Amino acid sequence: MRRSHAAPGVAQAGPVTRADHADVRPVQVRVVVVRAGALSDGLAEGVLSEAERVRARAHRRPEDRRLSATASALVRVIAGQALGARPESVTVTRRCPACGGPHGAPFVDGAPLLSVSHGDGFAVVAACDLPVGVDVEPVGRVGVGSVAGVLLGPHEPPSDDAGLLRTWVRKEAVVKATGVGLTVPLSDVRVSAPHEPAAVVRYGPRPGLAIALADVPLGGAHLSVAVVTDRQIQVLVEDGASWVTR
Ligand SMILES: CC(C)(COP(=O)(O)OP(=O)(O)OC[C@H]1O[C@@H](n2cnc3c(N)ncnc32)[C@H](O)[C@@H]1OP(=O)(O)O)[C@@H](O)C(=O)NCCC(=O)NCCS
Repeated sequence: MRRSHAAPGVAQAGPVTRADHADVRPVQVRVVVVRAGALSDGLAEGVLSEAERVRARAHRRPEDRRLSATASALVRVIAGQALGARPESVTVTRRCPACGGPHGAPFVDGAPLLSVSHGDGFAVVAACDLPVGVDVEPVGRVGVGSVAGVLLGPHEPPSDDAGLLRTWVRKEAVVKATGVGLTVPLSDVRVSAPHEPAAVVRYGPRPGLAIALADVPLGGAHLSVAVVTDRQIQVLVEDGASWVTR
């Protein structure tokens, strides 16, 4: 991390991974959260590129448009803080690892690595010096039971909706950290049981790869963060609303 801007009232999360590396300093992950209720139309758009505006406007629901724009604005603010640059002057690139197209996780040269999740009430951006993935889903999301078949591998026991949602969020954070996204079946990523501390049990595409995983307490949502590392991670949560509502 180049900088840490912990806001007052910051929550924290952070156990995880391998006791044999407990003497090594934890990897710091910054997680910036904005709730949809803090937003109104057009607020974040001033700092966005044309491509980011187009991507935000492609969402059908107004709230999703606002959250997409907010996530893109947060990326610019966080990277700008690291670079000492104004958000609107930051160059953000996206390159899909699967097809090379201009979509996927945002990247800013010289800034921490970034991961984005938005929709259903929240916009979240995680920043870390190592490959990072973040995912957020609102508590009580309906229809979760129908994904169990694609979500769980043969060694993972069935669970109630809350457990499935927790597992879903953990696994999406993992596949974002490794950059593969849903090109890898989530059933090929094994994580700890929902009631156990978050951990990656086996990452199918590269079984030896060490990935740290943490659940982050956040009222009204499941939020998980993954980092490709064999060290512990420490998650610093910040409220980014004031950055995009001024
Ligand atoms: C990213 C993904 C795992 C989850 O998406 P989701 O739950 O619907 O939405 P979220 O809001 O949590 O995440 C979306 C963000 O993930 C990021 N993202 C997209 N692909 C990503 C990848 N391969 N790795 C890491 N992050 C990725 C983007 O930043 C995106 O937001 P943005 O476009 O507004 O910046 C899923 O949509 C996905 O895997 N997409 C890519 C699939 C792919 O690579 N297909 C081949 C295309 S050629």
